[in-house]
Amino acid sequence: MVNLKGKDILHGAQFSREELERIMDLADTFRIQLADRPGLDLLEGYVLATLFFEPSTRTRLSFETAMHRLGGNVVGFSSAESSSVAKGETLADTIHTVDQYVDMIVMRHPALGSAAEAASIAHSPVINGGDGAGQHPTQALLDLYTVRSECGKIDGIILVLCGDLKNGRTVHSGVEVYKHFNCKLIFVAPEQLKMPAEITSRLKSLGIQFEETNDLVSAIRHADALYMTRIQKERFVNPADYDLLRNSFILTREMIEANNPKLTVLHPLPRVNEITTDVDGLAGAAYFRQAKNGVYVRMALLAMIAGKM
Ligand code: NCD
Repeated sequence: MVNLKGKDILHGAQFSREELERIMDLADTFRIQLADRPGLDLLEGYVLATLFFEPSTRTRLSFETAMHRLGGNVVGFSSAESSSVAKGETLADTIHTVDQYVDMIVMRHPALGSAAEAASIAHSPVINGGDGAGQHPTQALLDLYTVRSECGKIDGIILVLCGDLKNGRTVHSGVEVYKHFNCKLIFVAPEQLKMPAEITSRLKSLGIQFEETNDLVSAIRHADALYMTRIQKERFVNPADYDLLRNSFILTREMIEANNPKLTVLHPLPRVNEITTDVDGLAGAAYFRQAKNGVYVRMALLAMIAGKM
């Protein structure tokens, strides 16, 4: 039995395959229900806090949209400067306070482990909307859902993950959900930005198939989907290191047309320069559909955490 009532969502590894399937099926249900009405009343009276100490467009706005479309309400802030943290309040005190007001909390914060810290303080369920270079589990859920809806299946597909695999929290959470579906994973990154060893060694110990390369063209040739990511500028201590790596991989329309015209292209967004805008018109360019899927998947998650599904 899948039951996420009252659960914190902190790490991609916390989900079973059954839970992942249930979340995706429920996201499909909400997608269908919203086709002929703007919203539902399932979470009427519930209040979600969105506490964003780091910039966000999609994660915050799609959580807020998801809560509104479920009939609930949202309070929150979109920068540390607009909260009492600017006056010197600790994260612990902020969480303790917000916990008095709301039913669920979504938080994004630059410190690794901050969501787990918040969860240890709050009685309300805490959802990790990104903790530094750590995890971003709800992005992984919507990425998985998008693979399923774009490729028609997840089991056994060849999936290329490219870009800043060292600092990118979406890929760190992503591998934890893809591993349930026997996908063949190909990691494409510059030497300095490879997938962290603690993740690759765990995948090895679990017998998950993956390859590491820095040849993007060869990697996409036989792939079903490419998950492109941004070089995470804000995680670099030395700006010169970022400048050296910022143009590492740039996906162009010619690359796709010459090597794999049917390729599905995903990206968590925001994009900087790693996908040229002429890719956007290709049938396989799925990243804006992916952003929309974030609303359905987050509706599913909120409804399940509230114990309504
Ligand atoms: C990602 C993030 O914040 O980790 N964005 C998102 O949530 N869609 C990816 C990124 O910032 O590169």
